[in-house]
Amino acid sequence: MKIIKKDILCATKDIRIIRIEVSAPDIAKKALAGQFVALMVEEKGERIPLTIVDKSSESITLIFQEVGLTTKLLAKLKPGDSLSALVGPLGHATEIKKYGRVVLVAGGVGIAEIYPVARALKGSGNELTIILGARTKAALILEEELKELADDFYLTTDDGSYGRKGFTTGVLSEILSKDKYDLVYAVGPIPMMKKVTEVTAGLKVKTIASLNAIMVDATGMCGCCRVSIAGKTKFSCVDGPEFDAHLVDWEELMKRNQVYLDKERHICNLKDKIE
Ligand SMILES: Cc1cc2nc3c(=O)[nH]c(=O)nc-3n(C[C@H](O)[C@H](O)[C@H](O)COP(=O)(O)OP(=O)(O)OC[C@H]3O[C@@H](n4cnc5c(N)ncnc54)[C@H](O)[C@@H]3O)c2cc1C
Ligand code: FES
Repeated sequence: MKIIKKDILCATKDIRIIRIEVSAPDIAKKALAGQFVALMVEEKGERIPLTIVDKSSESITLIFQEVGLTTKLLAKLKPGDSLSALVGPLGHATEIKKYGRVVLVAGGVGIAEIYPVARALKGSGNELTIILGARTKAALILEEELKELADDFYLTTDDGSYGRKGFTTGVLSEILSKDKYDLVYAVGPIPMMKKVTEVTAGLKVKTIASLNAIMVDATGMCGCCRVSIAGKTKFSCVDGPEFDAHLVDWEELMKRNQVYLDKERHICNLKDKIE
């Protein structure tokens, strides 16, 4: 669980995205695209889920954005430091097969999460259209890596500092109105995935979303990550994290993900003052 390497991929005033390579040979042996790990930075800390973005025979690569207490503590670790706990690979792997023409839509740090899926889908002979969205140019990660896998490639930034000004879903609507696609796969902020679902619902294109429900144990016991899929309760950690986007109750997921916001902000501020 030792950190072997650490790079800062983005460091603006508001956004910090970090890549770490962690020694984890047993997890690396089994990890497949779409799966994640749960980790603890400190013995008395919380467990957080992070996608396995890449692997070698001895290690796994994680990319995370600093958003709160645990990701900030994780960002403080240096090569040579160890995590307190690491479990995985967790969740179902992405169903990789030849779908045909696939559109991958990723926003923010969701770009890291889409990378292993893009690689696996390309390896199975799919034609990939990749649409990436970031708040601003400096927050865009893995551009070159994903461009290399894409047959068609689009970039959007909210502020227009790079690529097209606007959102990924604008490009998605445009390309779906011109051509036929067999699958849309989305990962990123919940409002983005919800909008992708609305765009594809009318066109009846199969759509998969990787949900970022709040997870605690990440092994199906606590019920914290429950989501409603076609009216039935599912646990994102063991039944997902990917689901048919057209069956997800997005409003409920959005509300559930904000439940602890006040407490998280409070603890964060406190911790920053302590340090
Ligand atoms: C399957 C899965 C894979 C993920 N992969 C990545 C990834 O590769 N890179 C990345 O940057 N982020 C990823 N996330 C989100 C990441 O887990 C959260 O950003 C992290 O838990 C935030 O913890 P915090 O203490 O720093 O922030 P907090 O201040 O505690 O929370 C900030 C926000 O993060 C979300 N969050 C908080 N705790 C959890 C939790 N235990 N589980 C899920 N979401 C939580 C909530 O929306 C919350 O409002 C993933 C989430 C899931 C469910
Ligand atoms: S995180 Fe506890 S059941 Fe999924």
